[in-house]
Amino acid sequence: MKKNIAIFASGSGSNAQRIAEYFQNNIQIDVKKIYTDNPNAFVIKRAENLNIPIEIFSYAKDMKNKKSSWAKAFLDENYDLVVLAGFMRLIPEYVIKHYKNKIINIHPSLLPKYGGKGMYGHHVHQSVYENKEPKSGITIHYVNKYFDKGEIIFQAECPLTEKDNPDKIAEKVQKLEHKYFPIIIEKLLT
Ligand code: GRF
Repeated sequence: MKKNIAIFASGSGSNAQRIAEYFQNNIQIDVKKIYTDNPNAFVIKRAENLNIPIEIFSYAKDMKNKKSSWAKAFLDENYDLVVLAGFMRLIPEYVIKHYKNKIINIHPSLLPKYGGKGMYGHHVHQSVYENKEPKSGITIHYVNKYFDKGEIIFQAECPLTEKDNPDKIAEKVQKLEHKYFPIIIEKLLT
């Protein structure tokens, strides 16, 4: 039986696109749908270009309310893996329970460093830069009810030099994300 993935993204969606492209001709693994809580997210355009169903939902009305028709439909899908790729919200407990050990997130730092509330996107790379860290990297981890606190599945590092400004750090980290995220997803599903 084919394994089905759902991807959640709130912004640009470059990781979502990378994952979708990686599994495009895979007979065992399918990116079934991309979900976004942000009606203005660029990931919507990417999904349309990739011909992948995209669903725009309301975090407050749909996801946070376990009695909503959205919640029922999402749980009924019984995805084999739920992938958070730049999804900016906490996952409610009823979802975590239903999808036990099946929700993963990617974070653009070497957790536990530079994680938690407010530590996302440029804030991460700016702090890494200000602290003159000799390296940064990515963390792929299971999701629990806290930001960036679930069990770590995989990390990859990149060395930094004094010449690396926050934009350059972001670029190095994104390269690692695009390289490893699809591979780790495939490993988890096979
Ligand atoms: C990535 O850096 C990821 O680590 C973080 O959000 C960013 C999403 O980037 N959780 P994109 O939308 O996939 O381009």
